[in-house]
Amino acid sequence: MRTHYCGELNRQQVDQQVSVCGWVNRRRDHGGVIFVDLRDKKGLLQVVFDPDDVAMFAQAETLRNEYVIQVEGRLRVRPEGTHNPEMATGEVELLAHKLDILNASETPPFQLDEEDVHDDNRLRYRYIDLRKPEMQYRMQLRARVTHFLRSWLESNEFLDIETPMLTRATPEGARDYLVPSRTHPGAFFALPQSPQLFKQLLMMSGMDRYYQIVRCFRDEDLRADRQPEFTQLDIETSFMDEAAIMGMMEAMMRALFAEVMSVDVEDPFPRMSWAEAMERYGSDKPDLRIELELQTISDVLEDVEFKVFSGPACDPEGRVAALRVPGGNDLTRKEIDEYTAFVGHYGARGLAYIKCNDVSRGREGLQSPILKFLPDDAITAILERSGAETGDLIFFGADKANVVNESLGALRIKIGHDRGLVEAGWRFLWVVDFPMFERDDRESRWNALHHPFTAPATDNPDELEADPGKTMSRAYDMVLNGTELGGGSVRIHKMDMQQRVFTLLGICEQEADEKFGFLLNALKYGCPPHGGIAFGLDRLVMLMAGATSIRDVMAFPKTQTASCLLTQAPAAVSERQLRDLSIRLRKPQAEG
Ligand code: AMO
Ligand code: AMP
Repeated sequence: MRTHYCGELNRQQVDQQVSVCGWVNRRRDHGGVIFVDLRDKKGLLQVVFDPDDVAMFAQAETLRNEYVIQVEGRLRVRPEGTHNPEMATGEVELLAHKLDILNASETPPFQLDEEDVHDDNRLRYRYIDLRKPEMQYRMQLRARVTHFLRSWLESNEFLDIETPMLTRATPEGARDYLVPSRTHPGAFFALPQSPQLFKQLLMMSGMDRYYQIVRCFRDEDLRADRQPEFTQLDIETSFMDEAAIMGMMEAMMRALFAEVMSVDVEDPFPRMSWAEAMERYGSDKPDLRIELELQTISDVLEDVEFKVFSGPACDPEGRVAALRVPGGNDLTRKEIDEYTAFVGHYGARGLAYIKCNDVSRGREGLQSPILKFLPDDAITAILERSGAETGDLIFFGADKANVVNESLGALRIKIGHDRGLVEAGWRFLWVVDFPMFERDDRESRWNALHHPFTAPATDNPDELEADPGKTMSRAYDMVLNGTELGGGSVRIHKMDMQQRVFTLLGICEQEADEKFGFLLNALKYGCPPHGGIAFGLDRLVMLMAGATSIRDVMAFPKTQTASCLLTQAPAAVSERQLRDLSIRLRKPQAEG
């Protein structure tokens, strides 16, 4: 049917007979001539229908947006003065000899170039939304990225191995999607949150290097960079330590960015400890494109009479931090109130500030409701530590350290964007030296910061048990421009250590046996040292495409409430299907 794609025609094919197929992007009637912009996956082509061919012209008059047509004709150079530099094919046009209307279209619910189409409409009519050049580009980019990653990994001895979708719960910390078993009434499969345990078993099976581009399922609260089903580039290797794994993975990313984006990224990626990231950026995935940093000032505020500051300053779990906003003196009362409300969403109880009208005049040159509570030496220390200059504004957070980190960390990003302080470029970073556990005070036990299979920095289980809170893990996260792209670790490969970690996590022997007995067993039969990583493929492509949500790089994503507007899933099922699965839905209770 087709000799060429619309978008690839140019002067080289002038005077050739060509045949193209596609969608009517727009029809314009101009002084007895009809122009149609025909669209396919490679772009637009102007087609001209001359009135000389009366029958064909009449047919062309019936064309509407999104009709599917095939046109044969001769390619010619557009007349002088009518070239369109905005179109890749703008120097040529197709003079139609034959028109075949392959299908009509009703008026689409939105035009392809319409702005601000409601997201719900885009998702309900995703097949129309995906016709947009921008969406076509994103899908093509995604395919190029996966193709590149596959071939890179395969040329580095990685083997693509599939793992089960119908499986047991996997402990990545989210809620599971469950699938009832018909043949085992009352029992359920879980869809994998990740192939974590299977990929470790594959190392025990001697596969040496595994990868898989694999769907993962997590029933969690959704955000712009989270979907209930998403895709991981999942990787595991044997006989490599963290330095070797990280080095190899960043080489892969560098090669990917060079090939697909024609960008040279830093070599090697910088590494930063988790503690430093929290201290300087209030985040374990700092966006290094924004220079603003948090400074701890707890030590100079312990004795001030302002309780908002001295309380957290004296609390071992508290933190008082300053965030200098260069040139921020021009922030209005209203803007400061808006930022105060913003940090409120992260649990902050206020947002104190000092405006620096003239730092050379000390206290006299400053303006703030809290000045009167602060002695001179504290003010001097604050100015010095934050590096504040005339014209700046300093914000303060004072609370439990996690509240200060989350709120000022988020404020740092917001101000960076609001005030145009985000530098262009690709800032990769490895975050390392994570604590092995975090304390869950409500349940008075330890939680794994990564997952329960991550190896501690020590090989000695007694050392781990002596001070679990101080032990670091052998985990690493790859961060790009403030997004966590991937995370992984060297794994525990000794049965004794794995059991002791389970115990510390409050997983009793019986539970460990029930849930992970197969893993513990496998550890007995010759398990090699191994480790790996998983990248969020959707997030990677989102960043490469310059999109703001992973939904924009998924063909058929779900809504914020985890439903599919296109297919109306999830949906009710018949009584009979439920009966087959031995599921009885509880009748709504009668009132009273
Ligand atoms: P983790 O849970 O950190 O690690 O996941 C790895 C990466 O997957 C991406 N990701 C998501 N992307 C979109 N929507 C989601 N809901 C979502 N959840 C996670 C992130 C994240 O960095 N088994 C371990 C990996 C390992 O240890 O090898 C794991 O799954 O980009
Ligand atoms: P108040 O004494 O509550 O009127 O607070 C004085 C100033 O301190 C106001 O600007 C508040 O926004 C700010 N503030 C109150 N609590 C905190 C806090 N936990 N961290 C930072 N600033 C705060």
